[in-house]
Amino acid sequence: MRKNAAQRLILRGGRVVDPSQNLDEAADIVIDDGHIAAVGPEAAAKTSKGIVIDLHGLIVTPGLIDMHVHLREPGFEYKETIRTGSEAACAGGFTAVASMANTDPVNDNRSVTEFILRKAAEAGLVRVHPVAAVTAGMKGESLTEFWDLKRGGAVALSDDGRPVKNSAVMRRALEYAASLKMTVISHCEDPDLSGDGVMNESFVSTDLGLPGIPAAAEEIMVARDILLARYTDTPVHIAHVSTAGSVELIREAKKKGVKVTAETAPHYFTLTQEVLKDYDTNAKVNPPLRGPKDVEAVKEGLRDGTIDVIASDHAPHAVTDKEVEFEYAANGIVGLETSLGLSLRLVAEGVLTLSQLVAKMSVVPAVILGIPGGTLRPGSPADLTVIDTNLTWRVDPTVFRSRGRNTPFAGWELTGKTVLTVMGGRITYRDPSRWE
Ligand code: DOR
Ligand code: ZN
Repeated sequence: MRKNAAQRLILRGGRVVDPSQNLDEAADIVIDDGHIAAVGPEAAAKTSKGIVIDLHGLIVTPGLIDMHVHLREPGFEYKETIRTGSEAACAGGFTAVASMANTDPVNDNRSVTEFILRKAAEAGLVRVHPVAAVTAGMKGESLTEFWDLKRGGAVALSDDGRPVKNSAVMRRALEYAASLKMTVISHCEDPDLSGDGVMNESFVSTDLGLPGIPAAAEEIMVARDILLARYTDTPVHIAHVSTAGSVELIREAKKKGVKVTAETAPHYFTLTQEVLKDYDTNAKVNPPLRGPKDVEAVKEGLRDGTIDVIASDHAPHAVTDKEVEFEYAANGIVGLETSLGLSLRLVAEGVLTLSQLVAKMSVVPAVILGIPGGTLRPGSPADLTVIDTNLTWRVDPTVFRSRGRNTPFAGWELTGKTVLTVMGGRITYRDPSRWE
């Protein structure tokens, strides 16, 4: 069942949820030669020969796309490699990911971009779209060669992990990127305000005796980037939105027609800073987990369309990076294998419809990054995800495909899981408990 790129796959009877075509109905999908050949209630009836997979009772969506992950290679292979990250991605239902530039060396030149693509092709499990750095060495000073990086395969630009502190540099980045139809993804943080903070500044941080990062450290940069995007009439994408104030700023900017898009990560709509009460470094992340009002505002932002995308900000770290005093622990939460399960809680709670969730986890990221995918239209690459929305499972980091085990969700019971992932017409993942 594995190496079957040229073979016909016939997926029978699943509920096809494809917001790109306004589709939500029981239908068959025929895959030929790595592409979608037909979608429709009777599509399989007209086709003979091929591998038939019965999907009754399951959901089929365009392959999920995670536009914000850290794959750590080159340089931090002890945390994750492109191969282990790819394995985690397809197990989580993803057929494409965008990989951030904070590797070592930084992805600030074409040879690193091409190295990432070569490694991803060798793994062959997920489309990896490199995000190149905005500035050389992510130092915030001089712009990288956007055009050359684009020719090398970079799809977007970001110094994620660090802000582009200098507003003039950010302005030039936005202008230059827009001329090349590339999106700048902004890590919004005023580093002077966040200072040596390690969690959200609040009564809880006072209680725990930990230095705080105020919400304003994020919001000031969100406001700045909105102003720059408005002034230059260029697009900007705000990464990992975590505060009520950021949601409000983005909402108002969108009303005024500013070309701003935004993402949040599952931990920001699922957890508050309360989980830090036992100093769990697995919940230490940047931006930090915030308060209940922020969580509610992020959910409302997702509901009303202010927040366009759910991305995991998959940030694997080794045990040695995390099992240290809270102040010294690395920031980051692994997300590829829990993102869908946590996001489906929004559907159960009535915050999003399933179709809206699929839009935020597949259709819209493809549009923002200008990459293939996000649709099951005939003729498009056969990237799709099959989900059992009734399957209840327990998060067990010891069985993650990711090399990172750093999750605050260990032991959580989630409902809804990927059971089959198809990328380019090839099965890249199938749930072992379902298919032998
Ligand atoms: O928590 C985080 N981890 N936030 C970032 O901005 C960077 C990321 C990482 O690379 O570990
Ligand atoms: Zn990140």
